[in-house]
Amino acid sequence: MNALQLRKKRVVKARTATVESSIYNSFNSFNFPRIITKIPFRKTLLLRMEIAPYIHISKNIAATITSFLQNNTCTKVVVLVDENTKQHCYPFIKNALPANHGLIEVKSGEGAKNLQTCTHIWSEMTEMGLDRKALLLNLGGGVIGDMGGFCAATYKRGIRFAQIPTTLLSMVDASVGGKLGVDFMGYKNHIGVFQEPLGVLIDPIFLNTLPQRELRSGFAEVLKHSLIADVNHWNEIKTKNLADFDWASIIKHSVGIKSYVTTSDPTEKGLRKILNFGHTLGHAVESFYLELPSKRLLHGEAIAVGMIVEAWLSKQLGFIAETDLNEITATFLRVYGKVTIHETDLDAIITHTLQDKKNENNVVQFALLENIGKANYEIPVNASQMKDSLQYYRGL
Ligand SMILES: NC(=O)c1ccc[n+]([C@@H]2O[C@H](COP(=O)([O-])OP(=O)(O)OC[C@H]3O[C@@H](n4cnc5c(N)ncnc54)[C@H](O)[C@@H]3O)[C@@H](O)[C@H]2O)c1
Ligand SMILES: [Zn+2]
Repeated sequence: MNALQLRKKRVVKARTATVESSIYNSFNSFNFPRIITKIPFRKTLLLRMEIAPYIHISKNIAATITSFLQNNTCTKVVVLVDENTKQHCYPFIKNALPANHGLIEVKSGEGAKNLQTCTHIWSEMTEMGLDRKALLLNLGGGVIGDMGGFCAATYKRGIRFAQIPTTLLSMVDASVGGKLGVDFMGYKNHIGVFQEPLGVLIDPIFLNTLPQRELRSGFAEVLKHSLIADVNHWNEIKTKNLADFDWASIIKHSVGIKSYVTTSDPTEKGLRKILNFGHTLGHAVESFYLELPSKRLLHGEAIAVGMIVEAWLSKQLGFIAETDLNEITATFLRVYGKVTIHETDLDAIITHTLQDKKNENNVVQFALLENIGKANYEIPVNASQMKDSLQYYRGL
């Protein structure tokens, strides 16, 4: 049996285990006892740091774009930017583009990731007369990548697009895996599609102008990838400071995990759900504070809270040891500090989890840690457990 067959066999085995453990857990999903029985099936992620061939990590973005455009001919190239990436990133790629390329600018930030901005992008694409052989280059962070990808995937039933991520978060996470979309009615990424980009062109040079808070936000996804898939890497990075990293190698490692997992399960039927560790309650916290502009959190800051509380759930469900929980908590508090969450806000935060796209039959499904370096998914958790986990965080 070759390596690929072996990997497929393991993924199938993991899926079987998921179904069984799901059924097993559904008995426990209501009136859950305080300390819960250990799930009897192990899902092993056979990790290979394989990076899909459409992802290019280099230290010469202009040369990468030149050869990418030579290999992918198109009728017109259009670049989507926000005001920050227009100023700091566009100059690095401008000369590698055809002279007649178009430029569409939108306002930066999560607040602009909505259908109104999409209407602006679609209008500009229409006014430029883009046909179905045009190519959109999304030059920016996760907001530009998710929204630009969504606009490209839906314009005239879909034109090609490439991601040129310029934040750490978009390099290691958002640009890989084909999830596209925008926020709607206060819910994150509520409207969207799955569609792989034609290419993902990564160059760490863009990080030089990225604000420190944004870099730290993206680092949460790096920590997550290690927690769910590579204990050795976690041990290597958990005590380091952001200034100490060689980002090219961190990005390569992190993209390897994201790419492997999403290639194995592109539409999130199984294994891909492990990437949701920290995100069920993390997204709920992020969505809740989205409505309170003065307390708005960056994505990574919110999922740092999510990873602490979901590590607590992992411990409470009998997976990880207390020492692991303490180590995870200490690491996230050291890097991100503590967010003040008022007791009176807990119910509203928990209500947000009911909208999570991973839920099935109104049961909130979590990805939790089985060990540091290994994750489990489709684990139902009820509202009272979620509340207890948030209380743990409040008590830190
Ligand atoms: N599709 C996915 O799988 C996926 C995964 C994770 C997150 N996301 C999404 O990603 C988004 C967050 O992405 P983000 O953290 O990259 O935020 P972002 O796109 O808002 O960028 C953060 C800020 O940095 C600025 N910026 C970007 N690059 C810069 C650079 N090189 N120099 C200076 N400033 C720069 C931007 O203008 C913006 O103000 C969220 O909407 C989240 O839902 C998607
Ligand atoms: Zn995330």
